[in-house]
Amino acid sequence: MERLNKYLARAGVGSRRQADLLIEGGKVKVNGVRVTEMGIRINPEEDRVEVDGQPVDSPGEYEYLILHKPPGYLTTMRDPFQRPTVIDLLPKTETRLYPVGRLDLDTSGLLFFTNDGDLALALTHPRHLVEKVYRAKVSGIPATSDLEKLARGILLEDGPTAPAKIALDKVEKGNAIIVVTLREGRKRQVKRMLGAIGHPVLTLHREAMGPLTLGTLKPGAYRRPTEFELNELMKLKEEIKKPNRK
Ligand code: URA
Repeated sequence: MERLNKYLARAGVGSRRQADLLIEGGKVKVNGVRVTEMGIRINPEEDRVEVDGQPVDSPGEYEYLILHKPPGYLTTMRDPFQRPTVIDLLPKTETRLYPVGRLDLDTSGLLFFTNDGDLALALTHPRHLVEKVYRAKVSGIPATSDLEKLARGILLEDGPTAPAKIALDKVEKGNAIIVVTLREGRKRQVKRMLGAIGHPVLTLHREAMGPLTLGTLKPGAYRRPTEFELNELMKLKEEIKKPNRK
């Protein structure tokens, strides 16, 4: 048995507090019966829950994991040469999880896994709703004018890049740390952009993707999204379903 508000939060309907408000507002039905009583418990295996007349997806259906990928791990399910892959770092779940986007072998940072196809689509959709934040250590110190060029967009061999946020964070022993925020996700994009202005990337790390951040997660460790993060992810999933969004 599980408290209804917790079940609703796990199902991505909102935070527990928001779930309480829905219950209080008479919007939740269990097995066809409206419940407004706080603290009610349900059997997640058997009870049918609806919000505003819509059945709630069973929270057990989807898995979500955030991994801090260390350098040296391939973002692939299996490698014919038996090299380490990110799957080696994940728990053995019953459902197969897929990485949402990729990080190069030598790139570290946030990699998100799920078996929720709609969410994976929302996070990688060409409408580019989601910002990815990278921290790149580059060789030398780029001129401000070159960083501004990158921010406006430059021509790469597979076409022009969309506007991006580019900031010089600091200089360490003659090399610069540049924070690059992209909505696109082309192959080796950050390395190619910085390489194009003559400052090859020495190390690259992804700090954030949409509402997800690494926080204090150590390299090689994983965690499940918080209730707040899950809620934000579900909003993105809904957003992508709306027609005529600019
Ligand atoms: N851009 C890159 O160049 N490499 C990555 O791994 C991710 C973004």
